[in-house]
Amino acid sequence: MKPLAIDLFCGLGGWTEGLLAEGWDVIGFDIEQHVYGEERYPAQLVLQDVLTLRGHQFRNADLIVASPPCQEYSYMAMPWSKAKAKAAAIRADTTGAALARLRHAPHPAGTSPWWWRT
Ligand SMILES: C[S@@+](CC[C@H](N)C(=O)[O-])C[C@H]1O[C@@H](n2cnc3c(N)ncnc32)[C@H](O)[C@@H]1O
Repeated sequence: MKPLAIDLFCGLGGWTEGLLAEGWDVIGFDIEQHVYGEERYPAQLVLQDVLTLRGHQFRNADLIVASPPCQEYSYMAMPWSKAKAKAAAIRADTTGAALARLRHAPHPAGTSPWWWRT
């Protein structure tokens, strides 16, 4: 029997592609079905907000991977000069206010920051 991987925030299936290639079964969770041209998620897709997941959904899992949205933290999402300045400002701010602002930055439509909920 193949090992089972759960791919949280699976998107179009970057993680899943690799896992399938290595002989895993994969179930992906995402809040939307991504379609780019002919490209579709390549395994079983569950449309569900990961913030509503329950542990029993993973009782047979051998591996869980998660790649939540990271644009607000990614230097690749902005010009390098802006990214360096932003990082420097966050490091220089000893009050923690700059980091708090980053944590409350806008998120993709219909989602909530994952650290808000318990
Ligand atoms: C960084 S991308 C995922 C990339 C993907 N794992 C890959 O390897 O190609 C983040 C994904 O999280 C999804 N997402 C955002 N908030 C979510 C939520 N609350 N529950 C489930 N999926 C969410 C987005 O639709 C998006 O597909």
